Amino acid sequence: MKAFPEKKVLITGAASGIGRSTAQAMGKMGCRLFLTDIDGDGLKKTVDVISDAGGKVCLARAFDVGDYQAMAAFAREVHEGYGSLDILVNVAGIALFSQVEDMRHSDWEKVIKVNLWGVIHGIECFVPEMIRAGRGGHIVSVSSTAGLIGLPWHAVYAGTKHALVGISEVLRYDLRKHNIDVSVICPGAVNTGLVQSVEIHANREVTEQTRALFLKIAITPEKVADIIIKSIRFRKFLVITSFDIKLFYFVKKYCFPLYHLIMLAMTRFMDKSLKR
Ligand SMILES: NC(=O)c1ccc[n+]([C@@H]2O[C@H](COP(=O)([O-])OP(=O)(O)OC[C@H]3O[C@@H](n4cnc5c(N)ncnc54)[C@H](O)[C@@H]3O)[C@@H](O)[C@H]2O)c1
Repeated sequence: MKAFPEKKVLITGAASGIGRSTAQAMGKMGCRLFLTDIDGDGLKKTVDVISDAGGKVCLARAFDVGDYQAMAAFAREVHEGYGSLDILVNVAGIALFSQVEDMRHSDWEKVIKVNLWGVIHGIECFVPEMIRAGRGGHIVSVSSTAGLIGLPWHAVYAGTKHALVGISEVLRYDLRKHNIDVSVICPGAVNTGLVQSVEIHANREVTEQTRALFLKIAITPEKVADIIIKSIRFRKFLVITSFDIKLFYFVKKYCFPLYHLIMLAMTRFMDKSLKR
């Protein structure tokens, strides 16, 4: 999949951050966009910005990606009105960092519902139709550094993001016969709404300091959008957006004893500084 103009692209999480930047960039490239997010006002803003710049948004609907019936209804609307997609970009996500003893059952459920079920719903409602259409295509899912590395305090978030890497790897091979490519994007720190909306069950003062530190190393969502587009164009599978995370992952793969020591130290540091 190399040429973008006129491609039909669905982007979840399009009201903010990486999703909005990707939608704007793809709008400028002449894609026909199908956008969704739970935040209706933010989604409308994205649509206005794209339309003002001459981009084409075919449909924009606000709903919870974790709600299967809502995703299935959206898929019916897309397929009946416009046919099958060319590109599916799963971006919507939320974050929650906590020690396991400070998490309620509802904390596990809400993160899994959006980050994992949301992506599964996108795949099950749109990919079979892409296969039937026989035109090939591309599926992108935005995972995270936490999809590759078991970062401290990230149990539920890392669980969902590792799952996206696993699902993507299987689909990469399963869908090859249909000429559908798969990319899984693992960003490091990105300066988006998530930095403020992340729920952290920890010492508030240290949390604010950590947030400020995070922002110092964060890249822009526009940069991630650019990386997503290049991943589609050059049919890249596993894409890590920052050099520091590439290095960290390299150490995990090729020098596990060192990785183990770093993880022990990092966990000790996080426990000491963040625990309430
Ligand atoms: N910001 C980072 O540092 C970072 C790092 C690694 C991975 N990511 C991943 O990138 C993706 C995009 O996040 P972002 O950084 O752009 O944050 P963001 O908060 O700016 O965007 C996330 C979007 O998802 C939407 N959303 C949340 N719950 C939803 C639901 N139930 N249904 C539909 N939409 C929902 C939000 O309304 C928001 O518009 C997420 O999957 C996140 O896990 C972000």
